[in-house]
Amino acid sequence: MGAGIAQVAARAGFDVVMRDVADEFLARGMAAIDKSLQRDVDKDRLSTDDKDAIIARIKTTTDIGALGNAFIVVEAATEDLPIKIEIFRSLDQLTKPGAILASNTSSISITKLGAATRRPDKVIGMHFMNPVPVMKLVELIRGAATSDATYETTRALAEKLGKMPLECQDSPGFISNRILLPMINEAIYALYEGVATRESIDGIMKLGMNHPMGPLALADFIGLDVCLAIMNVLYDGFNDSKYRPCPLLKRYVDAGWLGKKTGRGFYEY
Ligand code: CAA
Repeated sequence: MGAGIAQVAARAGFDVVMRDVADEFLARGMAAIDKSLQRDVDKDRLSTDDKDAIIARIKTTTDIGALGNAFIVVEAATEDLPIKIEIFRSLDQLTKPGAILASNTSSISITKLGAATRRPDKVIGMHFMNPVPVMKLVELIRGAATSDATYETTRALAEKLGKMPLECQDSPGFISNRILLPMINEAIYALYEGVATRESIDGIMKLGMNHPMGPLALADFIGLDVCLAIMNVLYDGFNDSKYRPCPLLKRYVDAGWLGKKTGRGFYEY
């Protein structure tokens, strides 16, 4: 998702520094950006020159220090609280005092990330949806200490990126995943209990509810490890058994069948 966020920011005219922990991940990100922009070139919605200019606005690095001059950093690391806390601590040390620190987290507490810094008023959730270049929504999440000024700047930025920002408070799963993930988990339970095949479950939701993808295909698309992490955040956050992750989801994650990114999930790729 980091590559998608870099892409929409560069397309909106911003200079972007895309940082990852290894060159191979940066190369994969740049390849995804190239492929995504080429779709628009092929459809005559973007010139080759403009595509090249967008790509030239993105600098890649493995050095987190290269983010020192940013006016905003959007973190999109693994959905793991200790990793994110460590990143927010580092960003707090190395960025300018006025810089906004945003997280693309799908469910981790913005309040906790803010508390790891000396600027919790400048920490906010900026939750993009996959595929980032296509989906209109950016869910903006206010942590306990997020200031109105931080919210307004981030809202204006999301609009400049061509997105529709919608606001919610910091609560487990926010709005998007509090509603989406229990639906996906229920689809996995239906498969687990043998109520229907994967094709039936997905077909019923696509044809009957007009969802662009069935819930099992969508789970593969999101990543089953991410789905499990979000269910665990809901389960722990609300202490309510209705959010218990399906044992079949846990088994697939244990097996390393994480969906599209590993070639196997509820479907084979
Ligand atoms: N980059 C740029 N454009 C892309 C793209 C990408 N990576 N992927 C698809 N597109 C474009 C295509 O070019 C096409 O554009 P036009 O119609 O303008 O020609 C359009 O999107 C539709 O693509 P396709 O025809 O290839 O395929 P599709 O109609 O099946 O749509 C989809 C693909 C957009 C992914 C659609 O299936 C969809 O909307 N699925 C649901 C996605 C969803 O729910 N996302 C949210 C996941 S949850 C999340 O991200 C947050 C979280 O915290 C878990």
